[in-house]
Formats: sequence, structure tokens, C-alpha cells
Amino acid sequence: MCGIIGRVGDGNALETLLTGLENLEYRGYDSAGVAVQNGSGIAVEKRSGKVEALVDSVADDPLEGRVGIGHTRWSTHGPPTDENAHPHTDATEDVAVVHNGIIENYAELRAELRAAGYEFTSDTDTEVVPHLIQYYLDGGADNETAFRKAIGDLEGSYAITAMFSGEHVLYAARQGSPLVVGVEDGEYFLASDVPAFLEYTDSVVYLRDGDVVVVDGDGVEFTDLEGNPVEREPETVEWDPEEAGKGEYDHFMLKEIDEQPTSLAQALEGRIDPENGRIALADFGPGTFTDVSSVQLVACGTSYHAALYGSLALNQAGIRATALLANEYSAAAPPIDDETLVIAVTQSGETADTLNALRQANADGAETVTVTNVVGSTAAREADETLFIRAGPEIGVAATKTFSSQAVMLTLLAQRIAADRRGEPPADLESLLPALARMPAEIERVLETSDAAAVANRYRGSQSYFFIGRGLGYPVALEGALKFKEITYEHAEGFASGELKHGPLALVTPETPVFAVFTGQEDAKTLNNAEEAQTRGAPLVAVCPDGHPALETADAHLEIPDTEPALAGLLANVQLQLVSYYAADLLGRPIDKPRNLAKSVTVE
Ligand code: F6R
Repeated sequence: MCGIIGRVGDGNALETLLTGLENLEYRGYDSAGVAVQNGSGIAVEKRSGKVEALVDSVADDPLEGRVGIGHTRWSTHGPPTDENAHPHTDATEDVAVVHNGIIENYAELRAELRAAGYEFTSDTDTEVVPHLIQYYLDGGADNETAFRKAIGDLEGSYAITAMFSGEHVLYAARQGSPLVVGVEDGEYFLASDVPAFLEYTDSVVYLRDGDVVVVDGDGVEFTDLEGNPVEREPETVEWDPEEAGKGEYDHFMLKEIDEQPTSLAQALEGRIDPENGRIALADFGPGTFTDVSSVQLVACGTSYHAALYGSLALNQAGIRATALLANEYSAAAPPIDDETLVIAVTQSGETADTLNALRQANADGAETVTVTNVVGSTAAREADETLFIRAGPEIGVAATKTFSSQAVMLTLLAQRIAADRRGEPPADLESLLPALARMPAEIERVLETSDAAAVANRYRGSQSYFFIGRGLGYPVALEGALKFKEITYEHAEGFASGELKHGPLALVTPETPVFAVFTGQEDAKTLNNAEEAQTRGAPLVAVCPDGHPALETADAHLEIPDTEPALAGLLANVQLQLVSYYAADLLGRPIDKPRNLAKSVTVE
């Protein structure tokens, strides 16, 4: 949700800024812009459209400067036009600003600044910031004081980076939107996310809410808003720059689908011990969950589907659990007591809705855990405990490998909570642990043998696509439909298979293929429901092992290895990810950057 990059160092900043924006484009791709300065004045170039349009436009007229800022936008206030693109400046171009987040009191500030004679040229909330800074400069403040005073006037969420004409310095502040500093000898970076500068440095400082930093070519000063120093230590990120690149793939999404054997093996590494029949989840101390009597899982989108998967796994392990949409949590959260555990499931660790729910749970006295992919993310810092899913960077806007890793980690966590509660390992661990250990190889088999491309081709042009499943197959059906609609722009819906006959069956025709997920649990009932749709003309695509009874009637088959019901849905999910990918590719969709979406949604 908007990507920010800033760079101070020797040589020209332009190329670093453009590469940074390309690496951050998954955060927003409505418009993009850069501003650089060479010690005398600020030069700005910005364009509606993708970063590519900006790259073309600066190729004709390259900008020179050793300090610069850049931005790729996901619109919140004002359509994606050249004027609304960042950076925004004051009228004299003495100050340039990039921003991610929402300034809630912008209308009020804009009215005051307009009344004082400052003219606005865009519809954005961001434009108040350079004018406000200019207002304080006009009042005699120096650059740093003007920046701090302007930040102090803002309400809402922001990650802001500013630079001033005639000075090789960047100023940045964070409140509610992510911002990281990259540190390299004589070169410093500010960005919304690490992939922006990963090819230059792996030494990273994650800023916290309320932090203000001043970066020049000699170092970084970390302070609070009043200027009091705060301690922030660099961490080394273990992501490899190649992992963050597309390699030989046309799309990040396919690369990330294909990475699942590795990402899952990484997630499981050291966390299961099949030989001794135990979970080795050393992320949590002994007996962490002994007193937990109920669990609430909060999340959005694909992570919500993983949370639902986790809640069903907990229920099956005998623990009371509910998955809740994080954006609905504040309106009607179930009661919390001191035996309630709240698990926030968030790939990025920065989703505003999920952070709000997590904060509410913390404030209400729940024990909290975050299941996330991003070390140093806000959710990781704010929860009592964190379980990292270790999936590596996920750049495609549609979540794929992180869903599998979230669901598997929640399956493991469910067993661990049940074991802590009872004081002894659950009985079904004996079969689950070897099945978990086999999973990376089984996903590899799915990837090598999948008929998803042919199935996508066979049913292209259908009116709607339905996905059904029961038990742990239900969140997989929901996720299959979300992925399909998100990247193909075709209508798709996911249903609990038993729900079809309670209404949705009215939509079923020969033009609505039904993808049925069979997990090995109550498959006969799922097959009945699938056949009820097939009888009304819908083609049936069975996602099941070879030799399954569904194959006697199915029109098409997506094969999965025969495994435990606790995990079968996740193998089916890989097939459904591939179907969505190939269907979107046939339609020529921009798979990694579907329209209107952004990877990390940092506004409510
Ligand atoms: C869909 C997708 C989104 C995210 C959701 C939550 O493919 O990726 O639905 O799952 O925006 O994001 P995180 O997991 O970062 O909290």
C-alpha cells in the first residue's frame, strides 16, 4: 500500500531509486515518481501508471542528484493522475515529500493552509505535508525543526520521508505505516520494505511508531518526535536478493507457487521431530499455552482463510477456537478473559485491520501470538509471542506460498496448544508428523504432474467458477475462489459443500464449473453435494487422490497425493493456485499486480 524509497550516498541516486520502486511496486502501482537534488535545487518527475512509465520518462531526461526520494502509489485520496502522484512539493520546490498511509486531519490542515495563502495542486492528503513544512520554514524554523513541527500536527497513519533543497539530508517519520532504514558504508536507504534495497545491504533497522530519523551521508540519527535519542540496533535480514527477484519466471506468482516445497521445508525445519513423535516448536517456552481455554484468530483475506484453517484444526484438536475477520473485530469481538489466546495471522505483519484487532486484544488482556512472515514487522513486535513462517519474500500481490506456510504452522500450533492444555501429546501426532515431513516432496509431485493448465484452458470463458469443500476443505475452497477472482477478474465463489443446496445451487448451470476439494474426511457427503451440482449440468472438477470414488463421475481431475485429512486440503490448494494462475495467463491479466489491489494494506 504505497511504497517509499529514499537514498543518501555518493554518486547519482536515480538508478537506486528506480530499482527500489520496481522492487516495491507490489505495494501499489497506480502512479510513481522520484525527486532528486544535487545540493542546489530539487528536480521532480512523476507519472500516472506503473513504474515502467516513470522509467521511460526519466530515460529521456535523466535526473542527477546524490540524494533522492521515490514513491509508488496505491490511491486513497484522488485518482491516479500525474498531479496526484508523489513526491509532492511546496510551491517553490524547497521541500519534497513522499508518504504512505492516511492523514486523517488533512482537510482541516488544508483549509488552514489555504487560508494562509498556500496553493494546492493535487487532491491528495499528502500535499498538506510539504506546505505545512514550508509554513514553519516561512516562520523562521530550520529544516529539521520545520519537519518535526509539521509531523507533530499530523493525525492518522504515516511513513513520511522528506528532503530539502540545498541539503544532502533525508528526514523521515513513522506512525502506523512501515518504514525501514538500510545501512551500508557511506550509503543509507529508507524504504517501506526491505526488498527495496536488499541488493545493496542486508543490514536493516526497523523503525517504531513515533520514531523520527535524520539521515545524511555520515550516519543516521534515531530520535523521538521531540528530538530525544532512541536506541535502534541494525538487524541482518536473511533474505537472499535472488529470492526477491523473478529469475527465469514470467511472473512472481508462478515462481512463488513453485517455491512451496522449499518454503514449507524451511517453515518445518527444526519444528517437528517425527522420529521421536514430538513437535519441537521451540519458538514458545515450555507450557506457554497451558492455561489457554479458547482461541480467537484474527486476519484478513487469504490470511483469514489460513486462520479459518487453523481454527478448524484447533476445534478438531479439542480446543474452542473461532476465526474472525480482523476488520469486523472492533464492531463485535467475542468476550476475552485471561484464558483467551488471540492469534493474529498476517503475512506482512503490517495490515492495518489486523494490527487494530491485535491491539484491541492486547488492551483487553488476552495473551497474543502473531503468525507472520516478516521479522521486525509491527505485528511481530506488538504481540506477546511470534511464530515466523519463514516463507521468504513474497512479491506477487496474490498470496500463495505464505498461505501454505501459515496453514501448516497453525496446524502445528494447534497440536502444541492441545498438548500444553492436556499435558500430553495428542494421539493423532503419530500420523501427522510423518505426513508433515512428506509434504514438501508431495507438493513437488503436484507441481511436476499438475493438469491445471489444461483444466484452465478447458473451462475458459465460463460464466462463473465455484469452489466447494467440507471441513478443512472449506477454507481451501474459499481461498481457491479468492485467488481465482483476484487474478482472473472472473466471477468465482467458494462455498461449504453442504451449503450449495441452501441457495447457491440456483446459480449452477453447464456454464459454472464446480471445483470440489476432497480431503478424506466425509468425502461421501462432499461427493453427494458435487453430484447435486453436476446433475444440474455443472462440469465437476475433482481435486482428490488417484482412485478416489469421485473420479467415477468427475469431468476432470486434479490429482493430489493421498495424505492425512489434516493436510490434504493444502495439496489441493496448490492445484487451485495453478488453475487460477493459468486461467489468468490465458486471459492476459497482469498476474502479479491485479487491478485495484496492493500487497500490504496499511489503511483501514
Ligand atoms: C490475497 C491477499 C490478501 C492478503 C490480505 C492480508 O491474495 O494476499 O487477501 O492476504 O490483504 O494481508 P496480510 O497477510 O499481509 O495481513
